[in-house]
Amino acid sequence: MASVTITNVWKYYGKTVAVKDLNITCNDGEFVSVLGPSGCGKSSTLRMLAGLEHISAGDIHFGDTRVNDLEPKDRDIAMVFENYALYPHKTVYENMANPLRLRNESEETIKKRIAFAAEMLEIEHLLQRKPMELSGGQKQRTAIGRAIVREPKLFLFDEPIAHLDAKLRARMRGELKIMQRRLGTTMIYVTHDQLEAMSMADRIAVMNNGVLQQFGTPQEIYNHPVNEWVAGFVGEPPMNFIDCDLIEEGGSFYAVHSAFKVAVPSDQAVKLRGALKSSGVRMGIRPDQLAISLGQDGAAKGSIKITEPLGGDTLVDVDLKGANHVLVKTDADFRGQMNDPCSLNFDTSRWHFFSKETGVAYF
Ligand SMILES: Nc1ncnc2c1ncn2[C@@H]1O[C@H](COP(=O)(O)OP(=O)(O)OP(=O)(O)O)[C@@H](O)[C@H]1O
Ligand SMILES: [Mg+2]
Repeated sequence: MASVTITNVWKYYGKTVAVKDLNITCNDGEFVSVLGPSGCGKSSTLRMLAGLEHISAGDIHFGDTRVNDLEPKDRDIAMVFENYALYPHKTVYENMANPLRLRNESEETIKKRIAFAAEMLEIEHLLQRKPMELSGGQKQRTAIGRAIVREPKLFLFDEPIAHLDAKLRARMRGELKIMQRRLGTTMIYVTHDQLEAMSMADRIAVMNNGVLQQFGTPQEIYNHPVNEWVAGFVGEPPMNFIDCDLIEEGGSFYAVHSAFKVAVPSDQAVKLRGALKSSGVRMGIRPDQLAISLGQDGAAKGSIKITEPLGGDTLVDVDLKGANHVLVKTDADFRGQMNDPCSLNFDTSRWHFFSKETGVAYF
């Protein structure tokens, strides 16, 4: 097992800067997810960890060992990619045995480790099949099995379940998490899917444009995003953003918009004092932190644009008076119809405010 320390790491491809001054520390046995949109530098980071890509600047340590100049085979890692690259002419058993044979492990060790991995991944009945006789999910399990049998210090997974169907993906999320906890092997897991990162990782490194935006537990990232970009990227349906004016009246702060004027709790006002002088703030609130009613007694007035019943709950798209529309998540038995007037209340204990200029969160 190993901790992983990424210190001031940069990756250039010619003039393209793929990773900018990255700093991440992953504890021994921790499951860290690298999350971000396409092209943000996730795979470049993982490939530098694996030794498949030269590090343009900075250092990577596994435990106390600086690995910058170590060959991939000397790093004691196992990688799984989205395209799992199984040998088509070898059986599942032989595919899994392959890395161990290359290391001259005994047949007894090979058999024991494959039995252990196959049981964990529930592929014991498939060991004599060839890849073309497997479903996508079974191929994926085989590739993961091949990583497990190596008993590496570090797992590096790059979108390993991205192309599976939604149901299988949901199941694999749980299984991969159980597997990693059971083995206790440090895991760095790249994904663009925030649900995957949120549901599996101990901590998430959120990247955008090659820059680490925030590194924290799923709860920290969801409940205390450091900026507007993270707030908007994590959470489904996404956070609503509403530009407001911030005013001070009789010692209290208010968020003011053409559709509402809502008092800011006093403990939050302290953090917003600096924003008073700016030309407005951007409020962020998640769809389930808004309460909708068909009466007019709520804080913000508007009308229903469309409702989307989702079975367990209903999404309501609301046009606020003036500008803006917001998404509200409410009960399945909500009876509002298109164009009905409605009003909203804000859960002011959970909303956020961001600088309109920089996107940085006040809280
Ligand atoms: N071999 C390469 N040569 C030149 N540019 C590259 C190379 N590999 C990646 N890039 C560029 O570096 C940036 C980061 O790419 P990277 O593959 O790390 O992104 P990613 O976050 O893994 O994206 P995705 O989710 O699409 O896999 C992108 O702008 C990409 O075009
Ligand atoms: Mg990638």
